[in-house]
Amino acid sequence: MAFVGQRHWIVTGGLGFIGSAFVRMVLRDRTDVRVTVLDAMTYAANPENVREVAGDPRYRFVRGDICDAAAVREAIGDEAAAIINFAAETHVDRSILAPEQFLKTDVLGTHILLEAVREQGIGRFVQVSTDEVYGDVEQGSSTEDDPIRPRSPYAASKAGGDLQVLAYHNTYGTPVLITRGSNTYGPYQYPEKLIPLFVTNLIDDTPVPVYGDGRQVRDWLHVDDHARGILHVLEHGELGNVYNLGGGNSRENIEITKVLLEATGRSWDTHVRHVTDRAGHDRRYSLDASKAMRLGWQPNVSFEAGLRETVEWYRANEAWWRPIKSGEFREYYKTQYASR
Ligand code: DAU
Repeated sequence: MAFVGQRHWIVTGGLGFIGSAFVRMVLRDRTDVRVTVLDAMTYAANPENVREVAGDPRYRFVRGDICDAAAVREAIGDEAAAIINFAAETHVDRSILAPEQFLKTDVLGTHILLEAVREQGIGRFVQVSTDEVYGDVEQGSSTEDDPIRPRSPYAASKAGGDLQVLAYHNTYGTPVLITRGSNTYGPYQYPEKLIPLFVTNLIDDTPVPVYGDGRQVRDWLHVDDHARGILHVLEHGELGNVYNLGGGNSRENIEITKVLLEATGRSWDTHVRHVTDRAGHDRRYSLDASKAMRLGWQPNVSFEAGLRETVEWYRANEAWWRPIKSGEFREYYKTQYASR
């Protein structure tokens, strides 16, 4: 079937965790949309994440980096109605080891996309951002009007991207929106993040590394709720605005660890290692998501059920994560954890 005649959306980073959930959802729920995924296929990308939709005639894939203007042009082709930017370096620990790639992708890459939107008159640009730009939140919850105070190289690079996006809106009237999501969990998450790392370690009878005292607080959002929130902001958001997408499930890391130990039949004494804390570790994030809720979005997945199903997904899908954990990941794991 020809790749013409419908609304065309460019999803950058569509082979990653949240991007692929968005692609699967859009092709299922929006029959008048066709999607081009532009993805550089870095370590965190995986074609398996979109396998169930890759045969859909409304799906197209372009391998390329958002820092490469020619690749962005190729993805856009004759026209596009929207660009949704999921492409990013996302892992805080990796940003502490090697910050430069974060600046390239998260700041320069965002700039290259904004230029494409401006030059080609694309109708909407959604920047998928993070609650980490607000920095450590001792008490209360961050609203969209709060100052940004990023504290890790990762968070600073995302904040740099957000500032470019808002500056383009102010200067050129570029039609932009920003979503800032909280910690996301669910199927197909690369096992460097807390939940999939701990679940897969525990399935493998390997101890889990809890940073510092483990009393840090994160606010958890299911990936399907996150993807739906981004779609809702794309379709209903007011241009130039930021929308927080928070899960409303604040938990200390040790609470999460206990649930995962129980779900996998392991015990604290044998399977938890307290290791040196992350440098500059933010103690707590918390989002006030009432603005997105006023727009008509709300998270639906209960955290308890979502976490249980996520553990089951990793149990049932070893064929997805085993190759990952035996590849590049091994070197990273050694560098990250051996000396802790
Ligand atoms: O808040 C949204 C952000 O959530 C996203 O913007 C980031 O891309 C994403 O990586 C995530 O950042 P965090 O640093 O909060 O996620 P991570 O899964 O790395 O860690 C969650 C918490 O668990 C954090 O307090 C650090 C702790 N942790 C993490 C790992 C990987 C451990 O105690 N041990 C670990 O081995």
